[in-house]
Amino acid sequence: MTASSAAIQQAALILESGGLVAFPTETVYGLGADAENPQAVAAIYAAKGRPSSHPLIVHLAPEADIGYWAAAIPQEARKLIDAFWPGPLTLILKRAEHIPSAVSGGQDSIGLRCPSHPVAQALLRAFKGGKGGIAAPSANKFGHVSPTTAQHVRDEFGTEITCVLDGGQSEVGIESTIIDLSRDRVALLRPGQIGADQIAEVLGVWPHAPDATAPRVSGALDSHYAPRTPVALVDLQQLPLTLQKLAAAGRRVALIQRASTPFGGTIDHRILPSFPDGYAHDLYAALRAMDLAGADIILIEAPPETDQWQGINDRLRRAAYHSSRILDNL
Ligand code: TXA
Ligand code: MG
Repeated sequence: MTASSAAIQQAALILESGGLVAFPTETVYGLGADAENPQAVAAIYAAKGRPSSHPLIVHLAPEADIGYWAAAIPQEARKLIDAFWPGPLTLILKRAEHIPSAVSGGQDSIGLRCPSHPVAQALLRAFKGGKGGIAAPSANKFGHVSPTTAQHVRDEFGTEITCVLDGGQSEVGIESTIIDLSRDRVALLRPGQIGADQIAEVLGVWPHAPDATAPRVSGALDSHYAPRTPVALVDLQQLPLTLQKLAAAGRRVALIQRASTPFGGTIDHRILPSFPDGYAHDLYAALRAMDLAGADIILIEAPPETDQWQGINDRLRRAAYHSSRILDNL
C-alpha cells in the first residue's frame, strides 16, 4: 500500500530531472515538480489544465531553510510554524528574489507548506538532499474534486502521470488552511482543518477575510472542487420533500447524508460521519463515488454553519456553485 523507499528514491530522481510525480500528503494528493525549474512547473500547469497565473504551493522538508524561499519571515509566521508544522497549514510570504516567479504565477509572494505525511516527508528528504522544494497543486484536473487516494490520481490522469506514489488514504481529506502573511494584515485565504479560531489562539488576533486586493487563490473561484454531476445542498428538514419532488420529476438522485437514517428513493447514497474531521476525511471519496453513480443530481445534506464546519462548507458551496438553481421549478 505505502510506497517503498526504492520507489521514493526513484520519484526523487524523476523530480530532479524535471519530471512530474504524484505523491500523498495528509490533506490531499499533490502533483509535484521541482519548484525551481520553470519548465517542470509549466508541465504541472499543462497537465492540470490550470491557468499559469494561479500560484502553486511549495512543499518543504521539516529541516528546510525557510529563509531560502521567503524574503522575510514575520513573527506571525514563526508562531504558526511552531504551532502547526508539519501539518495542513500553508503560509503565504514574500518570495525571495532568486526563486523563479513561475511557481507563484508571477506574484511576488510564495506559498510554503511542510506536510506531515511520512511519504511526502521521505520524498522531500530524498529530493535534492532535502534542500529542494516541491511545487504541488492538488493532483486533479483544474476545477475538479481533489484526490485523496492514489487510485483517484490514476482516475484523473490515466497514463499522463506515470509516477504515482501510494500513501494510503489522506488523513485530513480537504486541502490545507491558507494564511496570507505577505501583506500588512493577516488574512485567511482558504479555510481547512485548522480553523480561524486556532489561528487566532496562536496569533492573538482573528485573521481577516480576504479583501479585493488579497492574493489570488484558485480554490477561491466561486466554482471549484466540483464533480461533473450537478450538486445541491439541502437542509435535513427539506430533504424528504425535495426527494419526493425529484422522484415525481423522474430524476435519478445520489445522496450524501450526515449520520442520519438513510432516505429511500435514491439510486445510491453515502452516510458520512457527524463530526467535521471524519466528514472531511470521507468527503471527496464520497463525491467521486456519487459522481459515478449515473445520477442526474447529487443531493447533499447541508452540515451545520458553525466554525468547525467552515472548511467543509466552503468546499460544498463551491461544488454546488454551478447548480445553484437546479432545485428551482421542480
Ligand atoms: O493541502 C494542500 O494545500 C494541497 C496539498 C497537495 O498540499 N495543495 C493544494 O494546492 O491544494 P492547490 O494548488 O490545489 O491549491 C493551492 C492554493 C491555490 O488556490 C493557490 O492559488 C494558493 O494556494 N496559493 C499558492 N501560492 C500562493 C501565493 N503565493 N499567493 C496566494 N495564493 C497562493
Ligand atoms: Mg486544487
